[in-house]
Amino acid sequence: MANLKNNQIVDDSHLFKCSVLSTPERLLLGPGPSNADPDVLKALARPPVGHLDPFYIDLMGEVQQLLRYAWQTNNRLTLPMSGTGSAAMEATIANSVEAGDTFLVAIKGYFGHRLADMAERYQANVVSIEKPWGEAFSLEEIEAALIKNKPAIFAMVHAETSTGVCQPMEGIGELCHKHNCLLLLDTVTSLGGVPLFIDKWNVDLAYSCSQKGLSCPPGLGPFTMSSLAEEKISKRKGKVPNWYLDVSLLNKYWGSDRVYHHTAPVNMNFGIRESLRLLSQEGLGAAWDRHRLNAERLWSGLERLGLELHVEPDLRLPTLTTVRIPEGVDGKAFTLHLLEKYGIEIGGGLGSLAGKVWRIGLMGYNSKSENVDRILNLLESELPSFRQNVAFAA
Ligand SMILES: Cc1ncc(COP(=O)(O)O)c(C=O)c1O
Repeated sequence: MANLKNNQIVDDSHLFKCSVLSTPERLLLGPGPSNADPDVLKALARPPVGHLDPFYIDLMGEVQQLLRYAWQTNNRLTLPMSGTGSAAMEATIANSVEAGDTFLVAIKGYFGHRLADMAERYQANVVSIEKPWGEAFSLEEIEAALIKNKPAIFAMVHAETSTGVCQPMEGIGELCHKHNCLLLLDTVTSLGGVPLFIDKWNVDLAYSCSQKGLSCPPGLGPFTMSSLAEEKISKRKGKVPNWYLDVSLLNKYWGSDRVYHHTAPVNMNFGIRESLRLLSQEGLGAAWDRHRLNAERLWSGLERLGLELHVEPDLRLPTLTTVRIPEGVDGKAFTLHLLEKYGIEIGGGLGSLAGKVWRIGLMGYNSKSENVDRILNLLESELPSFRQNVAFAA
């Protein structure tokens, strides 16, 4: 143990007892992260290169091009933020919101509240419309709120991970532009798994994550912005109040200047490049179909077992299913049992759905029929004893 004269190092001898890291095998069928594709893990394990290495500069361009494909957009400003989905979420807000802007948020779950919280921190005048958790907004409800509040930005979550609802998007972007406002969309649980058309839907700002439909570990937050949003930002009176997430600075690195901004997490970008390559190899349409087919297999299997789905069929999200915990069953004890005995993770409910639903994710690499059958078989074999335990205890 080192012992410097006036600067004694605290006792760190216990650290030497740590063994080499070994991690448990898990099948992640919860709200995310999902398991990473083994090819993505191989890409992540490549030796790093410098963040201004010509090889890396080329790779950055490929990541941007592949992200544009995954999002179906031609937006120039499309790049992965260094950070998780929340960093990219904050980037959309930090860049587009100016103090005093009216920021209308349609809240129908946990992540709508996070959008409102973030916008408030950037001194927006935040107003919200709300729906019960498990429902979606109609065009009429959205238009009425746009007319009443005249927002500069309208924000909503496409795929609400807390409820399992996929918001129908047709017509919302047109309404926003008709009423002179930008559309900001959370696509964290939709990118790669659910039909998503940034340009066709007139979305101005969107963000996502690496760890769900893209089959990569958490660590990057894809971000995209339309020319209309760029125009609003170019008219800002002051600087973007967040240095790290300022897209005009970031674009000097991701655009043609290649000026250092921050040391890019190069290995994460190796990983996302591989995950996006795999997505493009499969084809976006094929990936969306696979997610839907496996989700439908899960939904019908759950119903066959007598379990109740929380969301009505038309609004169900293929990447994330909410299933009601049967009366009398301790939902937490059951998820713990699946994890400890079988190494399988499913999620519990959040917010107003805490203790009421389980959340089963079939995202990216994990959207496979064998995973669906595995969880259905376990629900069939293991759940009865949990019902009985509760009945005996009562
Ligand atoms: C819909 C939605 N938005 C935002 C986030 C935040 O992303 P992250 O946890 O990667 O920061 C999540 C995380 O699961 C999410 O599901």
